[in-house]
Amino acid sequence: ESYDMGGHDTYMHKEICEQPDAVDRVLRGRIDDRFNTVHLGGLNLDAREARGIRRVKILGCGTSYHAGLIGAGLIESLARIPADAEPASEFRYRNPVVDPDTLYIAVSQSGETYDVLAAVQELKRKGGRVLGVVNVVGSAIAREADGGTYVHAGPEVCVVSTKCFTNTVVAFALIALHLGRIRDLSVSEGRRIIDGLRRLPAQISEILESEGEIKKLAEEYADAKSMMFIGRVRGYPVALEASLKLKEISYIHAEAYPASELKHGPLALIEPALPTVAIVPDDELLEKNRAALEEIKARSGRILAVAHREQEKADHTIVVPKNEDELDPILMGIPLQLLAYHTALSLGRDIDKPRNLAKSVTVE
Ligand code: G6P
Repeated sequence: ESYDMGGHDTYMHKEICEQPDAVDRVLRGRIDDRFNTVHLGGLNLDAREARGIRRVKILGCGTSYHAGLIGAGLIESLARIPADAEPASEFRYRNPVVDPDTLYIAVSQSGETYDVLAAVQELKRKGGRVLGVVNVVGSAIAREADGGTYVHAGPEVCVVSTKCFTNTVVAFALIALHLGRIRDLSVSEGRRIIDGLRRLPAQISEILESEGEIKKLAEEYADAKSMMFIGRVRGYPVALEASLKLKEISYIHAEAYPASELKHGPLALIEPALPTVAIVPDDELLEKNRAALEEIKARSGRILAVAHREQEKADHTIVVPKNEDELDPILMGIPLQLLAYHTALSLGRDIDKPRNLAKSVTVE
């Protein structure tokens, strides 16, 4: 990949469109069809060490932190290891207890973000085992970590991260599958996830084909002063990332909430001028999510749903292809990148270089 714009008007658009190839690249050479697992030799973890892990703690900033939140969900559900993610800066300033049975994972596109690097160094000083999930080969975090995996997204130029976010989440699915198959994930469950992973590139291409429709929706919602994003469990980090993307490049205020928390505060904000983007996958939480849409509709809120089928309570639905429940967040994030992109474009923003932001923050 070169730094050439390749016929696109912005790097962000180019990088969004590169996602089918990028995902293909992170999967390439890693899947083991014989044992229905994946090879990630760079993790430097033998099976006995992998079985000894009691917790996983993921650290990152911005979009990488959000990828880490989805990653924690994948590790918890596929490997059945308690896992969570935290902003690296928060972690390093709260004098954390460093536990030798916890696997720490630092996530960074650039591999140079100071807060993440400093967290890694603090962990290592205290005897923690740290892996890196990094895009830039040979970067500071990659060098400092005890092992890890590259996400192979290729060069990302736009300040906001799109293809690297997607690839990082796919890399976490690989790590979760790897740890799961060493622990208690069955052969058939391993197969189910591998088949799902292989469907991703074509499904991403299918979503990219609906760009025209998403552009129209973006233009319709671009007059909003503020937007709400909601999701539940696997959908919540998707909502967080979509709201961050919108803020970063369109400068529209946006908030993300777990759908279940609406009634504990944000419902007071709902009115026609505050549209809600709702993540509504066809999974075990579908009815709960639909109930949230009803609550919003009852207060005359406009709703744009991202779902696996039309949602009758929503004013508009972006229908995305279904994959395995665990992998759906990867696909549901893609149309929301395009939504943020076209909203910013219709407002005339400088998409590749949003005001006040830098691609990588290498100072405190
Ligand atoms: C900056 C960028 C974000 C990015 C974050 C973390 O704030 O503007 O887009 O998510 O840094 O960067 P990293 O390179 O560590 O993933």
